[in-house]
Amino acid sequence: MDHRPIRSFVLRQGRFSPAQQRALDLFWPQWGVEYAADSPLSASRLESLYGRQAPLIVEIGFGMGEGTIALALQRPDWNFLAIDVHGPGVGGLLKKIAENGLTNVRVMRHDAVEVLTHSVLPETLDGIHVFFPDPWPKARHHKRRLIQEGFVRVLAQRLKSGGYMHLATDWQDYAEQMLAVLRAEPLLCNRAPENFVERPETRPLTRFEARGMRLGHGVWDLWFERRISGGK
Ligand SMILES: C[S@@+](CC[C@H](N)C(=O)[O-])C[C@H]1O[C@@H](n2cnc3c(N)ncnc32)[C@H](O)[C@@H]1O
Repeated sequence: MDHRPIRSFVLRQGRFSPAQQRALDLFWPQWGVEYAADSPLSASRLESLYGRQAPLIVEIGFGMGEGTIALALQRPDWNFLAIDVHGPGVGGLLKKIAENGLTNVRVMRHDAVEVLTHSVLPETLDGIHVFFPDPWPKARHHKRRLIQEGFVRVLAQRLKSGGYMHLATDWQDYAEQMLAVLRAEPLLCNRAPENFVERPETRPLTRFEARGMRLGHGVWDLWFERRISGGK
């Protein structure tokens, strides 16, 4: 029997540009974080990774990383952990971190479901960003969508009390699925009761969103917070 888990991505053998490959070789040792299921990101490990204590934001699926960079420049007082599986994007983000002289971004090249489940400890995160996750539009592929009941529970548990989750998508039925799943999670409360929020100014425009806008797609933002008194 086949016991492979259902994943939210298909690993493309995307080709690295020479610059992305060079950035990976040069900067991974400095800013890359290897995944190890048995070595969680404890407070002391995080402090040594970033060289300081600061609010921690996880971004799932950063793509080419332009949004990550814009946010890290906006908030030098926050630490960012950017996670994606796509190698050339990882090389591209490392290159942009260096070009912008950023010291507050670390990068993981691994399935975020495993990272959040096994490496991030409960009540560790101040924020979680999920911008334009793959929509998997065909009904038979909906099981691959990242935002599902079980994973949302994990995400909610990883947030500190009062921590936030900001999601955006340009796929209406996925937006509605996100809203339903997040509303059903008892640890979370919706900043816009019952509904989506206006696009927060803090969310940078990514290449993916710009493409959607050119194609006339709508965009839906969701903002939920972990209840202050919630148990685990
Ligand atoms: C549609 S792109 C959006 C990228 C970016 N957020 C943007 O707005 O341009 C989705 C990204 O999520 C990544 N991804 C999908 N599932 C993932 C997972 N389980 N763990 C980490 N990254 C994932 C893909 O590799 C891809 O780069």
